[in-house]
Amino acid sequence: MTWAATVYTLFPAMFPGPLGHSLAGKAHDQGRWSLEVRDIRDAASDKHRTVDDTPFGGGAGMVMRPDVLDAAIGPDDERPLIYLSPRGPALTQSRVRALAAGPGLRLLCGRYEGVDQRLLDARNAEEVSIGDYVLSGGELPALVLLDSCVRLLPGVMGAAASADEESFSAGLLEYPQYTRPADWRGRVVPEILLSGHHAAIAAWRRQQAEELTQRRRPDLWQARPVATPHGLGAGRAVTQPIERTTR
Ligand code: ADE
Repeated sequence: MTWAATVYTLFPAMFPGPLGHSLAGKAHDQGRWSLEVRDIRDAASDKHRTVDDTPFGGGAGMVMRPDVLDAAIGPDDERPLIYLSPRGPALTQSRVRALAAGPGLRLLCGRYEGVDQRLLDARNAEEVSIGDYVLSGGELPALVLLDSCVRLLPGVMGAAASADEESFSAGLLEYPQYTRPADWRGRVVPEILLSGHHAAIAAWRRQQAEELTQRRRPDLWQARPVATPHGLGAGRAVTQPIERTTR
């Protein structure tokens, strides 16, 4: 079955945007995923097509009305309803993996000061943030979330994506890559990569990935799953912890 996304937004023209191009666009044209975009304003019931109102208790800005959003969303289905919001837990690759493995997503994009809390409660909406910064609405976060899921759907990307997905699953940042020319302005490619020794190259890449992760993302390094004889769990890495340097 096709992985199906429905987006509820006040700015339907922002979709599919970047998802109409490159691999996501091609996968869409091949029927590997579908995108339905619903204009929340179409669910308004008055002649001004009002979707928001002032907050009870006072304060700046406008809040999106629960009745209008409820009508826009329509009946529930088996897909999770996600509300993009800087208040939610930050999106992780493991959450992306789980969402991509499901039937699809319904994504609610807020604008203004947010949406009435009762709508989120009544619809059991899951809040998801794409990072600790504030954007002007949920549309860009929805595109980010969709892109991260679509690239994991079967047949969307080739071996390259599965390999880098594997490296991220191992909790490591990617090792550095090089291509031709082997000497560019006097900067030469690490000799091992030209050696043709596949096992030595794999070990070098693993070591580079571990060093990079320790240096740049000590949080990921601490939390990484490490292979043990009993499977994945806390264990010993190939490299010893390295000194922190500036980089
Ligand atoms: N809406 C506004 N900012 C956001 C963020 N950082 N993540 C998800 N939704 C948002």
